[in-house]
Amino acid sequence: MAALNRIQKLASHLDPPKPMRFKVALLGAAGGIGQPLSMLLKMSPYISELALYDVANTPGVAADVSHMSTGARVTGHLGPAQLPAALKGAHLVVIPAGVPRKPGMTRDDLFNINAGIVAGLTAAIAEHCPQAWVAIISNPVNSTVPIAAEVLKRAGVFSPARLFGVTTLDIVRAEAFVAEVVGADPRDVVVPVVGGHAGITILPLLSQARPPLPASFGADKRKALSARIQDAGTEVVQAKAGAGSATLSMAYAAARFADSCLRAMAGEGPVAETAYVAFPPSEAPDLPFFASPLRLGKTGVQEVLPLGPLDASERATLADMKPELLGSIRKGVDFAGRK
Ligand code: NAI
Repeated sequence: MAALNRIQKLASHLDPPKPMRFKVALLGAAGGIGQPLSMLLKMSPYISELALYDVANTPGVAADVSHMSTGARVTGHLGPAQLPAALKGAHLVVIPAGVPRKPGMTRDDLFNINAGIVAGLTAAIAEHCPQAWVAIISNPVNSTVPIAAEVLKRAGVFSPARLFGVTTLDIVRAEAFVAEVVGADPRDVVVPVVGGHAGITILPLLSQARPPLPASFGADKRKALSARIQDAGTEVVQAKAGAGSATLSMAYAAARFADSCLRAMAGEGPVAETAYVAFPPSEAPDLPFFASPLRLGKTGVQEVLPLGPLDASERATLADMKPELLGSIRKGVDFAGRK
């Protein structure tokens, strides 16, 4: 008996430690991104409770996802009256609520609708879970994140360490496209993408790609590849021909970003990530919001890393994007000021 106890004790030490688990609220959970993201988050070992909120169709999504035999407990919340319960106690709030881009629409066309939605949801976060990390997917990210920052500031609960615009989709696209060029497994490819999350403000640092692009892949091809990464959203919108924008790849990207946040919260950091945050990069101190490489720790952004060496064309794009990025930031701040 004593021997058996000793073996059991030893076996329990050999068990991998269970990760710390957190409550995650997903706002816009019944949408094109929200549904596959609900499924992916339900699979996370870091989530104890997954609160799914939307203004339409949440009961169905919550019932469906709750039948998955994974650890997270799923709750469904429909309409503004049920938003406080979705948010109470949340450690991480992920926001894909809003309207997506339709053919012919630019990200800025979405501005007025999505700006109001993000402002309203952020005000509720300030009230019900002011310490939560907030990851914003709703476009235009270049403006919706400054809006959220203003709303949180006004409520006296803003911390730049906990507010993120999710730009991971640009990175996963860059990884996938560079993998095609170099003939590598995309999981082995690293391509930093920095700046913002629309058109020219998306700056893929192809000069830092690992494995590197071959020398035979000349300047014209690099330019075309950068343009493809910047405009990949349009590629999907056109291919879907009126049936929506990027949802599945975005859900994957958001799940990857959420996983980084939760691992960092659990103390497994520093975790390397990139996101659009309210920290100017050392290379462009006049830009108050910028997607930079980061190290995440238990309480959020621990360190904003330098962009690393840029080639001449990347330096030029960094200079060229400034007016547009500053304009989008100002537009967000002005919108929040009028609310
Ligand atoms: P969708 O229209 O399929 O889903 C949006 C969901 O938000 C709907 O279920 C809708 O009921 C819900 N919603 C609307 N107002 C709400 C509110 N006040 N509170 C809670 N939920 C609300 O749109 P989709 O395709 O899921 O896109 C969502 C957003 O994500 C869009 O703004 C889109 O532009 C953006 N997006 C961002 C990307 C990124 O890389 N950051 C990539 C792709 C899309």
